[in-house]
Amino acid sequence: MRTLRTQVVIVGAGPSGLLLSHLLSLRGIESIVVERRTREYVEQRVRAGLLEHGTVEVLREAGVADRLDREGLVHEGFQLRFDGGQHRLPFTELTGWTTCMYGQQEVVKDLIRAREAAGGAVHFGIDDVALFDVESDAPRARCTVQDEPAEIIGDFVAGCDGFHGVCRRSLPAGSFTAYEHAYPFAWLGILAEVPPSTEELIYAVHERGFALHSMRSPRISRLYLQVGPEEPLADWPDARIWAELRTRLAVDGREGLNEGPILSRGVTAMRSFVMEPMQWGRLFLAGDAAHIVPPSAAKGLNLAVADVRRLAAAFAAWYADGTMELLNRYSRDSLAAVWQGQEFSAVMTSLLHRFPSDGAYEVRLRRARLQELVTSRASATAFAENYVGLSRARLVAGGE
Ligand code: FAD
Ligand code: PHB
Repeated sequence: MRTLRTQVVIVGAGPSGLLLSHLLSLRGIESIVVERRTREYVEQRVRAGLLEHGTVEVLREAGVADRLDREGLVHEGFQLRFDGGQHRLPFTELTGWTTCMYGQQEVVKDLIRAREAAGGAVHFGIDDVALFDVESDAPRARCTVQDEPAEIIGDFVAGCDGFHGVCRRSLPAGSFTAYEHAYPFAWLGILAEVPPSTEELIYAVHERGFALHSMRSPRISRLYLQVGPEEPLADWPDARIWAELRTRLAVDGREGLNEGPILSRGVTAMRSFVMEPMQWGRLFLAGDAAHIVPPSAAKGLNLAVADVRRLAAAFAAWYADGTMELLNRYSRDSLAAVWQGQEFSAVMTSLLHRFPSDGAYEVRLRRARLQELVTSRASATAFAENYVGLSRARLVAGGE
């Protein structure tokens, strides 16, 4: 068996693993990244698109935001439609912070290129990772690298392998507690080759269910529909998707939606999950490996980036002078931010969606909440602070 040595073994080359590897290399710390899928697959996987201001800043500081700064679409507000009317939530006017629309797969491409340019080790197509001795000071991952069995030994292992990864599953029973919630609906998402019909995102609350008009570029639209929890994609031919989007996104009975070829489609379950703690021995989990949120508030990637930034700083402190303080605080500090993200994602999910159990009473309560949001500056400001990530920045600053 071949033995490879490094400082941090990173499992998963999604945004969390790649960014961690890059932030570590900027501080002179070596890592080896092992990823189950091929490079082509991770570069094409369509997912998040809304980057908070703080996330953009981290990518800029890491020197991987040149293309993002050129191509990302900066937003200062969103549209909220309900009861056939339209309202604007001017989040930048309320908070001073903007958001940026830039596809997650573009962030992944930029990070892979940066790792490549720096000579970083990222191994794709490795589907047999198993972890050993994570409680010792020589934790290791065994897997097949270039058709040869290998053991990768590091000082630490970072589990950045997403919700379905192997790292969380390697922990002994009883070493962590999982908190979970499943919603009784899902999102059907499409990426379409058509200029967005709107400059700002549109969140539409409708009696037939929620719809979202988002975008990735001036030529590519991203749209979502609330659907049943186990909805078969086969039940949604293109014409039905567009008809449903037109109906749910109409204002004052008027429909106006650009339509074009659908490039990709998928159904995303709406659920929440948090594991506590996010560390076991020398294994540290980050991003979706440790927690997921329903996509309503677009927090998943942003929380993942916040974890990784904290973890990189904690490893750097340990390598600089052996201090454990930041590593010991990693789980606690991350979880405070994660629960804030969970809370806002739950608020936004219940504000926007039609629940199967809703009666006339719940529908009226939701209408009253929406009215409050568009008529009270105080409510809109509190909402906007969460939406743009300012609340999390304050929480982090308060904890330091
Ligand atoms: P992942 O992206 O899941 O990456 C994990 C990586 O590990 C993958 O490449 C996987 O192949 C690899 N892996 C898994 N198992 C193994 C193994 N055994 N060995 C080696 N490698 C392994 N978030 C936002 O912030 N804003 C949004 O607008 C937003 N919209 C979303 C829309 C949708 C439809 C969905 C599904 C998600 C959305 N999210 C959004 C959430 C966001 O996409 C995730 O939070 C983000 O991908 C987390 O990154 P990660 O690197 O932690 O995990
Ligand atoms: C997206 O573009 O994928 C997106 C945008 C805003 C959200 C959720 C998802 O609230």
